[in-house]
Amino acid sequence: MSEPVQTPQTFPTRIFSGIQPSGGLTLGNYLGALKRFVQKQDEGIETIYCLVDMHAITVWQDPAKLRQQTREAAAGFIAAGIDPVRSILFNQSQVSAHVELAWIFNTVARMGWMSRMTQFKDKAGKNSENVSLGLFAYPALMAADILAYKATHVPVGEDQKQHIELTRDIAAKFNNDYGVNFFPITEPVIEGAATRVMSLRDGTKKMSKSDPSDQSRINLTDDADTIAKKFRKAKTDSEPLPSALDGLKDRPDARNLVNIYAALADMTPQAVIAEYAGAQFGTFKPALADLAVAKLSPITTKMSDLMQDPAEIDRILGEGAARADAIARPIVDQVYDIIGMIRSRH
Ligand code: TYM
Repeated sequence: MSEPVQTPQTFPTRIFSGIQPSGGLTLGNYLGALKRFVQKQDEGIETIYCLVDMHAITVWQDPAKLRQQTREAAAGFIAAGIDPVRSILFNQSQVSAHVELAWIFNTVARMGWMSRMTQFKDKAGKNSENVSLGLFAYPALMAADILAYKATHVPVGEDQKQHIELTRDIAAKFNNDYGVNFFPITEPVIEGAATRVMSLRDGTKKMSKSDPSDQSRINLTDDADTIAKKFRKAKTDSEPLPSALDGLKDRPDARNLVNIYAALADMTPQAVIAEYAGAQFGTFKPALADLAVAKLSPITTKMSDLMQDPAEIDRILGEGAARADAIARPIVDQVYDIIGMIRSRH
């Protein structure tokens, strides 16, 4: 191992993030990720967003559904405000740099690091002998997604924090092992009132596209009636809303609804509590349902319009992939050079 090179190198700000097209997009994906992706784009930062289909197949995906869900997720991004000209929007499998770098990172990451990933443990459960090898290696591919672009910032929900920490460890070990300052130590960007949107049926569980109960989540494809009904039926306790945030400490279901309201309205949870102090859920839930419908319905409508023209979605993804490849290819070629691979074909 050579000595680490200490020359400081600054990396230009570049945002990368991804979403698995392994089911429909949920309100959790929207508030924890997508809405914030749009904000970053609108701040004029360079933004690269990826539908991570290679991650999706670490658990079984029906091919026709995967294709449909990938297009639907792309439509969701555009409907929510991602402009495929100002941002790069593409699906992972069209840019081979991701899997090439992932293999290299499989040799950098340690078994012990991977074994500590809580999301793997949760997903594998008691079945760990029978899940795919890809599910175990999943976070190394995620590190490759980010570092193939030398991305400096990754907006994500709370549940991805440990994966970003692993990405930082992989970058640091690569830099150190090869005596280079090649990869940035990427920062997670976990901010806002809805970094962890919880299930509408159980405020101690994350809202997830894989929850067997459809009542537990809002899907971006739900129509206005369904959205309103799900919020009206959301689990709560029988107390009125408190007059200070502290009063929500041991009330996960109530806290979740207040956080969702705050994120949808671009308010702080404190401001929501100030407005609804003492209100019963009979008042708060319809207000939340109205707000959610007002914010989400235009997205749902635009999404279904876009889905009328799948060829156009495929064209946008192909164009995004070409732009992504133009950034990632030279970076991964330099990695091959750093690690001592002969590249004499070009
Ligand atoms: P995924 O597809 O599970 O979720 C996509 C994004 O949505 C956020 N999210 C939530 N945020 C708040 N509350 C929730 N209930 C909720 N559910 C999901 C996630 O935190 C995430 O930001 N491993 C990633 C995908 C990925 C990725 C990447 C992300 C692959 N490569 C590179 C960033 C950078 C995942 O499974 O996300």
